[in-house]
Amino acid sequence: MILSGRSRYSLGAMIFHWLIAIAVIVNWRLVENAHHVAKADHDWWMNNHKALGITILALTLLRVAWRLAHPAPPLHSSYAAWERMLARSLHVVFYILLIALPLGGWLATSFYGQGVNMWGLFTLPALPVGHNPGMGKEIFDVHGTVANIMLWLIGLHILGALKHTFWDKDGTLYRMLPFGGLKG
Ligand code: HEM
Ligand code: HEM
Repeated sequence: MILSGRSRYSLGAMIFHWLIAIAVIVNWRLVENAHHVAKADHDWWMNNHKALGITILALTLLRVAWRLAHPAPPLHSSYAAWERMLARSLHVVFYILLIALPLGGWLATSFYGQGVNMWGLFTLPALPVGHNPGMGKEIFDVHGTVANIMLWLIGLHILGALKHTFWDKDGTLYRMLPFGGLKG
């Protein structure tokens, strides 16, 4: 299927999409490693997880601003109504999670009275929520559960993109790439 150039996302949207996608996957691997290394190394992996998580929050806020100024190209007309609904709802859920997960992490850390060390460049201060490690622990539990749900949704998103591109042959993947698939 050959689509017109107007079916592609803006270059800015592509850069944000792939940068954040890679960062989310790296952040998941960082926390997974933290669970499997010696106790002495645990903090190093978790500090990187926290700093990258806050970086994802900042990138997502910029991305949402960019998205408001650059609407998404219309979906291909061959999409069934349910596919349209599922794709768009999943995208909205991703934006919510990309903000809620790191905000929740920051909030939980704050309940321990800690800020987030941004790779030694500066420290993001703790939110003024008081000292309550019990509450921090509960929020981290929710954070972990929600993050795992997000990973499954990412799997669904990837399967959807691949199904459209290689099964339906409607060029979906190329909408998020600066080359290939489309004419113009
Ligand atoms: C978009 C950004 C983030 C993503 C995708 C993310 C993802 C995850 C994932 C997948 C886990 C593992 C859950 C499990 O144990 O199975 C986790 C745990 C954790 N995250 Fe995040 N996270 C993000 C941001 C943050 C931030 C900003 C902080 C703190 C400032 C943070 C602190 C933690 C901590 C302390 C845990 C361990 C919780 C526990 O095992 O009880 N995360 N996160
Ligand atoms: C890993 C984390 C990922 C997240 C959080 C994510 C999130 C998103 C979001 C929010 C959108 C909607 C863009 C908008 O309309 O504003 C989107 C679109 C898209 N994503 Fe991902 N994505 C991820 C990974 C991937 C991967 C690995 C692929 C490739 C298989 C992919 C392929 C696409 C494509 C093709 C679109 C355009 C869909 C359309 O035609 O409207 N994404 N993604």
